[in-house]
Amino acid sequence: MIEFHNVSAGYSRNSRVLEGISFHIDKSEFVFLTGPSGSGKSTLLKLIFHELIPQTGEVTVADFSSNKIKRRKIPYLRRKLGIVFQDFALLENRTAAENVAFALEVTNASRSFIRMRVARVFTQLGLAGKEKCFPQELSAGEQQRVAIARALVGEPFILIADEPTGNLDPAISMDILRLMIEINTLGTAVLLATHDYSLLKGKDDFRRLHLSAGRLVYDGSNGNFAPVPED
Ligand SMILES: Nc1ncnc2c1ncn2[C@@H]1O[C@H](COP(=O)(O)OP(=O)(O)OP(=O)(O)O)[C@@H](O)[C@H]1O
Ligand SMILES: [Mg+2]
Repeated sequence: MIEFHNVSAGYSRNSRVLEGISFHIDKSEFVFLTGPSGSGKSTLLKLIFHELIPQTGEVTVADFSSNKIKRRKIPYLRRKLGIVFQDFALLENRTAAENVAFALEVTNASRSFIRMRVARVFTQLGLAGKEKCFPQELSAGEQQRVAIARALVGEPFILIADEPTGNLDPAISMDILRLMIEINTLGTAVLLATHDYSLLKGKDDFRRLHLSAGRLVYDGSNGNFAPVPED
């Protein structure tokens, strides 16, 4: 599903942010991506979106390979991914339902299909009744749920979240994490990048990828993770 094979990457020819990264994520897995600020988590996610192309190695996402993909095919790849960021990135002048529908309007989906899918994700995410609210009329936690609804409406095989709880207080952060775990139990893979390790409390049996200074230093789910002090 997602495979990194000996990937190195950076933002200019003579600088490397990630070095020698190899792992794969299977269908329906839940994976935490952790590491201190600046360790390369967002950069690794950009490689999955093909916003960044590896300097060496290969990133494979579904049927797409970073070594072969044509630029014009990248939007098709992104439609298979559900992407959520820390800052929600909702359109302020559109209602919650319009924000979510917009993700499907760029495909060739029919109006009735879009209506059906939007209603379904609103119910699934506990947002029923909020369809006509504008983002500024919603709490931060509700705005993040709308952003997750928008990511899920196209039925991606994986939900990729970059610090999704970065703007939320601890209790709401736990709600969002619970929601992502529930989404995962329904069959969507989840890759959740965070440097908020309080989210991982009690989650020792979850798979964790840990980056330190651009290297993958841990990949496991045995609870034996022992970070070095600065991590
Ligand atoms: N657009 C960019 N141009 C140049 N360097 C960048 C760019 N984005 C990130 N970097 C550098 O890449 C390194 C890794 O950054 P990245 O954003 O991947 O870290 P992160 O683990 O996501 O950190 P955080 O937890 O703060 O979000 C940093 O040294 C950063 O300065
Ligand atoms: Mg980041």
